[in-house]
Amino acid sequence: MHSTNPEQNAPHIPVLLPQVLSCFHGLEEGVLIDCTLGYAGHSAALLREHPDLRLVGIDRDPEALEFSARRLEPFGDRVRLLRGSFSRLLPGLLAEEPVAGVLADFGVSSLQLDEERRGFSFESDRLDMRMDPEGGLSAYDVVNEYSLERLEYLFREYGEIRQARRLAQAIVSRRSRAPIQSAKALAGIAQDILPKGGKIHPATLMFQAIRIEVNDELGEIQRLLDALERARPPGAIVGLITFHSLEDRLVKNRFRAWSRDCICPPEAMRCTCGGGHALGESLTRKPLSADQEELRANPRSRSAKLRCFRFRERRNHG
Ligand SMILES: C[S@@+](CC[C@H](N)C(=O)[O-])C[C@H]1O[C@@H](n2cnc3c(N)ncnc32)[C@H](O)[C@@H]1O
Repeated sequence: MHSTNPEQNAPHIPVLLPQVLSCFHGLEEGVLIDCTLGYAGHSAALLREHPDLRLVGIDRDPEALEFSARRLEPFGDRVRLLRGSFSRLLPGLLAEEPVAGVLADFGVSSLQLDEERRGFSFESDRLDMRMDPEGGLSAYDVVNEYSLERLEYLFREYGEIRQARRLAQAIVSRRSRAPIQSAKALAGIAQDILPKGGKIHPATLMFQAIRIEVNDELGEIQRLLDALERARPPGAIVGLITFHSLEDRLVKNRFRAWSRDCICPPEAMRCTCGGGHALGESLTRKPLSADQEELRANPRSRSAKLRCFRFRERRNHG
């Protein structure tokens, strides 16, 4: 399927690579956990840049892991790959040994989007969208089995679609005649209902909403942040790349809370907590995004935002 040199022929261009390298520049010795290994573009570059670094790479997509296993072969036993969701695997890894860094580049890979049979693209004859092909819920189940109200909720909350109700109604009406079998048919419904003319395809936000539900993408991010908050790995750098505002908001708010020295309620007249409660500090006051050159070379970088945080060296006993 792929050509023989995985280093040169990765089916996915890593986004914000120079920014990721600079975020992890001060990595200490230990293990870096790449929660979304994908095609190992970020991981390979970080392993090259930090010769003492070891890597644990996680992905729930077996095709991505298979490719990356070959790509990372030259790094030998510095690399360990695990299949599964990062929210399930991360807590154990954080407890296992000192963690120097945690990277996550959320969302789907270019290959997942482009491979017709994975059912992510508007042109696909399938309706799947599972990152883990053996995962439970598929887009077919969501589109054909969810209630009108639940679909409307997804479109409004996860797609921020103003015509959420009309779109949900159109889907329910169409499927009452026959099940909606393909992403192509689903995209057609969105095209009929949603306003055209913008830069993005009218179905984009609907697909985003369904994908988030199928893969529990926001729940995964929340649980990753919870695991980090519990473990507070001393000195570890965390770099998280998000692709839309719902994801970014989760990361931004959590990094902000972790940076707060004073944890008195906002209505308190004066500080009584004594301060010193920050778990670390944000390394990026504003999120880093793609420059013009990257935007030209890789349109997928358009909405990517990287935020970095560093946990303090010793646990906070405050
Ligand atoms: C945007 S790609 C990562 C690309 C990678 N940084 C690179 O340079 O090639 C995201 C990858 O994360 C995986 N992924 C997304 N959410 C995941 C989760 N909750 N658990 C495990 N893997 C996940 C996807 O299967 C996909 O392969």
